[in-house]
Amino acid sequence: MTTQDFLGKENYNISSQTIAESCPSNIALIKYWGKYKDQIPANPSISYTLNHCKTNTKVEFFANEPFSVQTFLAGNEEHKFAEKIEKYFRSIEQYLPWILKGKYIIKTENTFPHSSGIASSASGFGAIAKCLMNLDETFSGKTSEEESLKKASFLARLGSGSACRSLYNGLVVWGESDEIEGSSDLFAIKYSDEEIHSVFKDFNDWVLLIHEGVKSVSSTVGHGLMNTNPYAERRFQEARENFVPMKEILKSGDMNSFIKLVEHEALTLHAMMMMSDPAFILMKTGTLEVINKIWDFRRETSLPLFFTLDAGANVHLLFPNDGSEDKIKTFIESELLQYTQKNGVVKDVMKF
Ligand code: DP6
Repeated sequence: MTTQDFLGKENYNISSQTIAESCPSNIALIKYWGKYKDQIPANPSISYTLNHCKTNTKVEFFANEPFSVQTFLAGNEEHKFAEKIEKYFRSIEQYLPWILKGKYIIKTENTFPHSSGIASSASGFGAIAKCLMNLDETFSGKTSEEESLKKASFLARLGSGSACRSLYNGLVVWGESDEIEGSSDLFAIKYSDEEIHSVFKDFNDWVLLIHEGVKSVSSTVGHGLMNTNPYAERRFQEARENFVPMKEILKSGDMNSFIKLVEHEALTLHAMMMMSDPAFILMKTGTLEVINKIWDFRRETSLPLFFTLDAGANVHLLFPNDGSEDKIKTFIESELLQYTQKNGVVKDVMKF
């Protein structure tokens, strides 16, 4: 498929509407870090969609008013966010030809703390893209559920890359990979549940809030620094190659190899940041303390507790519900919570 396949329909009939949609966040196992023009990822990525951390969004569309966007986050008016959405809407007009023909009031709230560093852009743009597709079908006729989700994923990607993966539950792939049939740089696809061992279908993601507040370097700037990073090409190649073992691991249920691969991906992401020019470090002391504690715990108990990181200091603690989870939860509560800023932990699951 090409971008041409997503162009908007010529015939539509707009009217004022109120639409509400909800979309979860996701956490990548093989990371997207580096992109080209028009939000094309430098390498494929795969993520788990979370079950509880979501953005709920209500879009009020006033047809035939001059184009403007007003946004509210948890009841508070956000002008910066409105500007971002306005720019985004202007950029997708060819795919939704009616989009600039009205006024919007967008009310959005997250089920997780705003400052937590949990990717609100993923769930946020996912929810907005779903609202837009809902409006599009109201104005120009229904398409199949499959087509509608694909276009929502395509549109979400143009808002924030990782958002395109949030449209599907379970494991989701975005970016063309020789290993994954049907994969595309333009939208995400669901990784077949049949190709996943049951141990990976009931997992926990507990996010330790090591540092709450604004990050020193945004993802957008971080992606941009990959353009001049001398290690970038090797990294993109490695991410592509990592799909080979990942596929086998997901099928066989090989937990030790899964742990090794997922932690390697997280550390590589942060190594790329350290090797950027200018260099930056998003991990905090607490991040490193927690990583070392996890490694000690695994050495001592052989229990499957491991971590991943996104572009921030918080640690995503991953562990399966395989009978070992009670011991792991006790360890987290007694040994790891001390490294958070305010005893902050967001407990989510990936069950499908
Ligand atoms: C480290 O999707 O936030 O979480 O496309 O610029 O909006 P933009 O970036 P974003 O980057 C996410 C980076 C990551 C890895 C990942 O989710 O794959």
